[in-house]
Amino acid sequence: MPVTDASTQASAHAPPAAPLLDIRALSVDYLSRKGAVRAVDRISLSVGPSEIVGIAGESGCGKSTFAQAALRILPPPAVITHGQVIFEGQDLLTKDDEALRRLRWKRVSMVFQSALESLHPTLTIGAQLRDVLDEHTQLSRAEKDARLVEVLRLVDLDPGLRHQHAHQLSGGMRQRVGIAQALLLQPSLLVLDEPTTALDVMVEHAILQKLLELQRARAFSVLFITHDLSRMLQVSDRVAIFYAGELIELAPAPALRTAPKHPYTQALLRAFPSLHGDPTKLAAIPGAPPSLRTPPPGCRFAPRCPIAIDRCETERPALVQLGAGHSAACHLAK
Ligand SMILES: Nc1ncnc2c1ncn2[C@@H]1O[C@H](COP(=O)(O)OP(=O)(O)O)[C@@H](O)[C@H]1O
Ligand SMILES: [Mg+2]
Repeated sequence: MPVTDASTQASAHAPPAAPLLDIRALSVDYLSRKGAVRAVDRISLSVGPSEIVGIAGESGCGKSTFAQAALRILPPPAVITHGQVIFEGQDLLTKDDEALRRLRWKRVSMVFQSALESLHPTLTIGAQLRDVLDEHTQLSRAEKDARLVEVLRLVDLDPGLRHQHAHQLSGGMRQRVGIAQALLLQPSLLVLDEPTTALDVMVEHAILQKLLELQRARAFSVLFITHDLSRMLQVSDRVAIFYAGELIELAPAPALRTAPKHPYTQALLRAFPSLHGDPTKLAAIPGAPPSLRTPPPGCRFAPRCPIAIDRCETERPALVQLGAGHSAACHLAK
């Protein structure tokens, strides 16, 4: 969890020596008859043990593609064209489907924006959760049922819900079922892709609180995606900012909040209501991200950047380290 004392940040938030998940130079293309669109362009990002790493950025910048590619659950026409995904010391990109199936739910779980899509329409909630236990454990039927009751209670759901179907539940309850499913087998990593975006604010808040409480108790690692930067800064240890398929800034959450280096991050921070400030002061970022089919040759943010110079139009900035665990891809950042 983020700490507010600036003096402890460098050591407390530096990525640990042996990350649980180490994604290296990952590229993903969407193929079509019109050619390839590179939705993720050589992005490297790690998640340490018990660490919460957030990914933020405008819609369409590649957050979901990145996370799904890392978990090898990305459907065609997406193709991973470059990189490595080292999870618990093994490269997931070289694993066969059976090996991946053994890891999923057991070592790494995910919760998506709409659990309705990931929950089965005709099976009861209990039957679906039991499927996961059937596949990965040797528990007896009674033990499995006890586990289901336990995990539903863990996310504050009535265990009686296991006899119901997904469509009978509210959006918030379905997301809780999704979280229960993700936590059934005590994985070391949870990937959350906008898990509360479809919910109203009160329900969202309650579910996030629950997730954080569980994370503290069980110390799993989290890769957390949201378009809501202020929420992200509250819950994450480190935050990665994506823009048009690239990682443009990576920093401990407190450093990103107080001293963002990239003009895009600065604009994003201004665009969201501050944590304690006036929520009516919402400034949108003028313009739109570039087409990924024909990205600008230099900095992809240059066309919208208030401080861009000629060099930014022609020369693509590399991600360079500018502080403790803090890097940004901007020719002008110091
Ligand atoms: N099914 C698809 N077919 C073709 N292109 C896609 C598809 N899904 C996503 N893309 C491309 O990938 C980009 C990133 O999408 P996505 O990862 O969903 O972004 P985010 O999760 O940040 O909103 C999009 O801007 C789009 O260009
Ligand atoms: Mg997405």
